Amino acid sequence: MIIRPRRLRQSPAMRRLVAQTRVHPGELILPMFVREGATEPLPISSMPGVVQHSLDSMRRAIAEAAELGVGGIMLFGVPEHKDAVGSGATDPNGILNVATRAAVAEAGDALVVQTDLCLDEFTDHGHCGVLDADGRVDNDASLLRYREMAIAQAAAGSQLLGLSGMMDGQVAAVRDALDGGGFSDTPILGYAAKYASAFYGPFREAVASSLSGDRKSYQLDAANRREGVREILLDVAEGADIVMVKPAMSYLDVLADAAATSAVPVWAYQVSGEYAMIEAAAAHGWIDRRRAIEESVISIRRAGADAVLTYFAVELARWLK
Ligand code: PBG
Repeated sequence: MIIRPRRLRQSPAMRRLVAQTRVHPGELILPMFVREGATEPLPISSMPGVVQHSLDSMRRAIAEAAELGVGGIMLFGVPEHKDAVGSGATDPNGILNVATRAAVAEAGDALVVQTDLCLDEFTDHGHCGVLDADGRVDNDASLLRYREMAIAQAAAGSQLLGLSGMMDGQVAAVRDALDGGGFSDTPILGYAAKYASAFYGPFREAVASSLSGDRKSYQLDAANRREGVREILLDVAEGADIVMVKPAMSYLDVLADAAATSAVPVWAYQVSGEYAMIEAAAAHGWIDRRRAIEESVISIRRAGADAVLTYFAVELARWLK
């Protein structure tokens, strides 16, 4: 026998030396929920360890993430009031825009403050767009709201707009609005290949979603791999500066395709259900929590993600230090 692959696996030092993929805190993005009117952080039962922040606890969590070298945060707003068009999303005093201003002030240059650009947290029906007279999600009318939302978020200081609504043409529409509004330097993260997924379950609790029904008429079908690449290419062509595959772990094939195809950075989102599964199994003593977290995130990197949105970002960064 001449070829013995085990030679390179003999010691921790050797394994570290030949490791093909690494995780660095600067490639991790922490999603954060900020709740209007909250005076203290409120736990989310389906996501143990994750909270709905008050503005103060958000500031403290940003300082901690920055201290540990985390690359960025992604903000989600949880408003007190919702309506059919998601007015809170475009109100400069809406919770997400208020939180963005506070986050940017706290973060300085230490990390990139990003915002979720989608209507679902703000609409009383819980959909990512506005509805037509028949109750269907109206693509082009939703784009008009996204344009307004983009201006509001850019004006609040958001440094990267995360377009997660999955309306056709959303990247082009938002790019046009930003450029026309004096924000040609504000970059766009297109949630290009976002699949309709059961793994968003805990997120719905996290943002107190009012959705009944599903998002299958706008998010991708889990059966479709090629369509993921199609959406990636479309978003890049429309001017996305970064594209996303979401969820991560059940879509590593799509992620690998995207990484092979995209001319811009490809990110992946380890979503709420992926987090909850690891926490739940670990709480039962069924898996080694730390190893499972590290393995899940390195797998996402290995499949091709340049950066990863993960609720484990701060803890991972601490371990990496
Ligand atoms: C939509 C949005 C969702 C998530 C991020 N942005 C939910 C959805 O599409 O239903 C899910 C994130 C997660 O599950 O962690 N604004």
